[in-house]
Amino acid sequence: MLDKLNEIEHSALEGLAALENEQDLETWRVANLGRSAALMQVFDGIGTLSTEERPEVGKRANQVKNALETAFTSRSAKIRQATLKRELDQEQLDVSLPGRRIPRGRLHPDTQILRELYRIFGDMGFQVFRSREVETDEFNFQLLNFPVGHPARDMQDTYFIEAEGRGDNPLVLRTHTSPGQIRSMRMFSALNPDNPPPVRIVLPGMCYRYEQVDARHETQFDQIEGLAVGPGITFSDLKGTLSDLARRLFGQNVRTRFRASFFPFTEPSAEFDIECFLCAGKGCTVCSAGWLEIGGCGMVHPVVLDNGGYDPERYTGYAFGLGPQRIAMLRYGINDIRYFWDNNLRFLEQF
Ligand code: FA5
Repeated sequence: MLDKLNEIEHSALEGLAALENEQDLETWRVANLGRSAALMQVFDGIGTLSTEERPEVGKRANQVKNALETAFTSRSAKIRQATLKRELDQEQLDVSLPGRRIPRGRLHPDTQILRELYRIFGDMGFQVFRSREVETDEFNFQLLNFPVGHPARDMQDTYFIEAEGRGDNPLVLRTHTSPGQIRSMRMFSALNPDNPPPVRIVLPGMCYRYEQVDARHETQFDQIEGLAVGPGITFSDLKGTLSDLARRLFGQNVRTRFRASFFPFTEPSAEFDIECFLCAGKGCTVCSAGWLEIGGCGMVHPVVLDNGGYDPERYTGYAFGLGPQRIAMLRYGINDIRYFWDNNLRFLEQF
């Protein structure tokens, strides 16, 4: 049996020394150290040997097994290294090849247009004021002169949030940025209640309405509110500001119009339209007879000034609420508002 073990060791080591690749190594391992290898059969047969032979054969079989395993490990390392060296010698590394381009993100067209609006309004002297997205009925409607049950609420069919016991003042996802008018006026008037400072702010943010979705209406959309309050502010200031905004956005020749309208929180009120570039004013699915409504505006209602802490006998103000996505549609020739939140890279990568 000892001779057999010597023979197993000798021929296995000889075979191993001749191997050159990893595939043959694996074949060798299965043949010499696998379950049905000759060496394993010696182990299996140890129980049948005499008591004298058993310890000696057992010891020698373990020695052979250790010798084969050690030789296998060292041969594998050598072959692996040789393979690597061969590959490195054969493969040529062209260090002058340009690296793979790392795709860079970019700003969403809505963010781009918002930033442009902040810059233009900043140049005109407006500060950015942030206000909350989850509002109360009181701020979203009541303090803006929409009492409970007012029919004008129907224009902003709403997402209310279930919260027990709030009676006539439920929580609501804001339907427009106008509640920020009250919040900002209250903040400024609290600085000096007897003689509140003038206000000149823009107020950007998401709004939510239960809408019939189409090419120019989404259920979630951005607005940017503007508010200027001070002594002697007139409707001409409002017209001048919005007309100037349109020129700064679209150039000197842009055509704009103010249409009489109704909002409970402004008096008089108007809609501000820009001639649709998508159809050159001819009329298309995005605009209405050649004009795209960009926002609502008007002179702040005395009730709203009062609710904000500004005495309507001493102060006047104008406000507007614009849709930045509508502006982006005109700017970039986007013919459907639904693309904005679709997250389709083929759309987003164009900006
Ligand atoms: C309002 O939301 C008023 N709060 C605006 C306002 C502010 C008037 C201050 C007077 C003084 P309106 O519902 O018309 O008004 O919306 C204003 C603008 O928001 C629209 O002209 C449009 O550009 C945008 N907008 C409104 N609804 C949607 C919608 N569903 N999807 C996309 N944009 C919308």
